[in-house]
Amino acid sequence: MASPKRYLITSALPYANGALHLGHLAGAYLPADIYVRYLRLLGRDVVWVCGSDEHGAAITIQAKKEGTTPREIIDKYHVLNKDTFERLGISFDLYHRTSEPLHYQTAQDFFTKLYEKGGEFEERFSEQYYDEAYNQFLADRYIIGTCPNCGHTEAFGDQCEKCGTALSPTELINPRSTLSGESPVLKPTKHWYFKLNKHADWLREWIDKGTLDGQQHHDANTWKKHVTGQCLSWLNDGDGLQPRSITRDLDWGIPVPLEDAKGKVLYVWFDAPIGYISATKQWALDHGKDWKDYWYGNDVELIHFIGKDNIVFHCIVFPAMLHAHGDFALPRNVPANQFLNFEGQKFSKSRGWGIEQHVYLEEFKDFPNKEDALRWALLRNMPENKDSDFKWDEFVDFHDKELADNFGNFVNRVIVLTQKYFDGLVPEVDFDWMDALSDAHRLALGVHDDLKAFNFKQAAQTLMELSSWGNTHLQDVSPWNIAKTDPDSPLIRECLFTCLQVVGLLSVLSEPFIPFTAPRVRALLGLPDLQRGDLERVLDQLQNSQPVIASGHRVGQPEVLFPKIADRRDPARMEIVERQKAKLAAILQAEAERQKALAVVEANAPTAIAKEPVAVKDEIQYDDFAKLDIRVATILEAERVPKADKLLQLRVDLGFEQRTIVSGIAEHFEPQHLVGKQVLVVANLAPRKLRGIESQGMILTAENSEGKLGLVSPPEGWENGSGVK
Ligand code: 2FM
Ligand code: ZN
Repeated sequence: MASPKRYLITSALPYANGALHLGHLAGAYLPADIYVRYLRLLGRDVVWVCGSDEHGAAITIQAKKEGTTPREIIDKYHVLNKDTFERLGISFDLYHRTSEPLHYQTAQDFFTKLYEKGGEFEERFSEQYYDEAYNQFLADRYIIGTCPNCGHTEAFGDQCEKCGTALSPTELINPRSTLSGESPVLKPTKHWYFKLNKHADWLREWIDKGTLDGQQHHDANTWKKHVTGQCLSWLNDGDGLQPRSITRDLDWGIPVPLEDAKGKVLYVWFDAPIGYISATKQWALDHGKDWKDYWYGNDVELIHFIGKDNIVFHCIVFPAMLHAHGDFALPRNVPANQFLNFEGQKFSKSRGWGIEQHVYLEEFKDFPNKEDALRWALLRNMPENKDSDFKWDEFVDFHDKELADNFGNFVNRVIVLTQKYFDGLVPEVDFDWMDALSDAHRLALGVHDDLKAFNFKQAAQTLMELSSWGNTHLQDVSPWNIAKTDPDSPLIRECLFTCLQVVGLLSVLSEPFIPFTAPRVRALLGLPDLQRGDLERVLDQLQNSQPVIASGHRVGQPEVLFPKIADRRDPARMEIVERQKAKLAAILQAEAERQKALAVVEANAPTAIAKEPVAVKDEIQYDDFAKLDIRVATILEAERVPKADKLLQLRVDLGFEQRTIVSGIAEHFEPQHLVGKQVLVVANLAPRKLRGIESQGMILTAENSEGKLGLVSPPEGWENGSGVK
């Protein structure tokens, strides 16, 4: 007999260098928690591991910032993040640490196995930046300089955070060390490189077709398009896969287990994913299990939950490491999420834009259901396939309209009416209730299917439809009206029996999403707390035409599950939300004032005296600016408009459509020089006719003091249709 599947679920190990914000939660932890809770309800053999990523420059830089040691940093943030996850109901089986000796051993053994196998590594000498004042080689993040792409003067050696370009330190213009502030010198050093290029062919097959060693490994169609797309462009673009350095000259990390590697450590991205293995080992030790059962063999279902910035590491680099090592299972799916923004902008710690998980819990400490309210709002706006945005107003709406008005209200009414008409007993009935419930059962199975397919947003939507179905049924029958004239009518019993079955289904199906509320629904129904396998049992009941709550069962006393946030009679809850909005408004205002002050300083600077005074246009509000929809586009065709000296007629590709734009730039550009150029286009400008040609947008240009025009170009390689903020 085929042995049952064992599920190993992982969530990206967050760096223990700071608190996590709501974007992290929505990215890799909440979806995994929903999925794992669902698997547990199905009675599956599942282990979910995560933990702190405690190496790399992220940690040492934070220690420097806080004037302390890396050890203190990781201890502080490991505890903070672990506790906060727990308080939000994120139910890891183990939250491990990469500073544990078991992890050191596991990572070093992994390296040694690949080293001894031969053919997987190569040694390379290269020149790297060295800080002579501090006598140490500099990790990429320790070097800052000017970005060769956008001119930002504070770009890091691995990436420019302004334009997003991936960099190597030697590409920076005027590099300087963040340790001493001096210019670093280049010095030779030896490193070990993992020959990723060797694995390109099977990786391409595996990603594109889901085949591995000629066998079907997974259904490639079940992978998210943006995940597969990112991997394939990595595999196919430019020179394809290249060997990657997996060692570093750094004094914080796991020592490279080789004689001639003194002072060198494993690169953090080599050791961190191995953290999934060491965490499983620790979990197995704690529970008397064999960790290999969850990592070896065909019946292992390995799923990595991550954010989109980690796709390449989890879909290409780590699988290649696992495959090179041998024995290990590869992931069957990597349902990576995209990014969550916050009130229209990126989370930014330095600007105070966004809210950290533990701060949310603190700010909302007197707020009933604060955990489920947050989980629900993040879930309903989860960046599953594209970036999404968290808004406080939507947080209120999702809570009040869905959890309170729909779900909570339905459950409450059904319990109240059962108490009122049947003294709290599920009524006896004699009708084809399976038929009456067929739509509700279809919705319940829909939630199950959506969860199985990692469509968590849709699953939540379907759950709401199930609850709406119940509400509508109750309203359609209106047993309170029938009771006025015919209190013994079977319709009252049938209606409440039906609705109680729906509440029974909701009490199980809602648990993955709102685990703090589901037990309360169970208590309202007088049912025991949920156990592993309860969903499996419910599905069997549906299959065998058995009710989920039998006639004669006694339900509990009604209670309001979700007091509304926007409730004029009790403004306390809305005040907490308003406080959050006010904080953001204050940030925007302070920034606007700083900008204004800067403009005044610049206008008064001596060098400005000789220039024309700069007349800045009237101040606008952020909302005015936000109305502009500016997109990246490529010019496909350009020609002069006959009998109009200033006009060019352009055809541009906006990614999602092509348009004609008439632009008054003919005196500044030769049409043939424009073709193929990427530009920024105002895409929501009302169309207008120029010389009989309808212009559907506007190209952005910059004008210098001599009146010359230049095109405003997006960063190189940005895809058409990308928005500009
Ligand atoms: O991006 C990050 O926060 C990394 N610390 C994720 C590591 S995931 C895994 F490989 F451990
Ligand atoms: Zn840049």
